[in-house]
Amino acid sequence: MNALVIYDSLYGNTEKIARAIGNGLVAALGDDENVAVVPVGEVEADRLATQDLLVVGAPTHGSRPSPPMHEFLASIPDNTLAGMKAIAFDTRTDMKELTGFVRLFGGIMDRMGYAAPKIASSLEKKGARMISSPEGFIVLGTEGPLREGELERAASWARETAA
Ligand SMILES: Cc1cc2nc3c(=O)[nH]c(=O)nc-3n(C[C@H](O)[C@H](O)[C@H](O)COP(=O)(O)O)c2cc1C
Repeated sequence: MNALVIYDSLYGNTEKIARAIGNGLVAALGDDENVAVVPVGEVEADRLATQDLLVVGAPTHGSRPSPPMHEFLASIPDNTLAGMKAIAFDTRTDMKELTGFVRLFGGIMDRMGYAAPKIASSLEKKGARMISSPEGFIVLGTEGPLREGELERAASWARETAA
């Protein structure tokens, strides 16, 4: 089984989650399975069509996937992912941890949503079959670090999904 984890990351937190997911997949599928973790700028278009499982993740920017991931998703030709299994994730701020005036703003941002459900809906439009609900992982502040335990949670999520 081939699995490809595609991520974007501005400050490195989403990359860490992507690598933890890659490790979780290797643990679930076995060492001889082909699991690759690749930044969005380095994905070759013809590689997409040969995957059994696609994992796509990005930082949430303005309640959407970051611009490089948004452009990548838009560039996938229709039906390239027909029948392919896929899961989507993002990194995001925990709006409930904000305080004071910013918390009010956070409430609005929370209602506007996060990147992962939008990634999932783009992948579905290209024909993919989502095999798990979109998942978000929490960063503390804009540049991180990740909240304690998120790398372990990401690896377990991937392992359970693949199993
Ligand atoms: C331009 C910009 C917009 C952002 N917008 C949001 C947002 O709408 N919602 C949110 O939860 N976090 C937002 N954030 C925080 C990012 O989610 C956070 O920086 C990211 O998860 C860190 O991942 P990275 O280290 O992989 O870049 C924003 C960050 C930046 C830089």
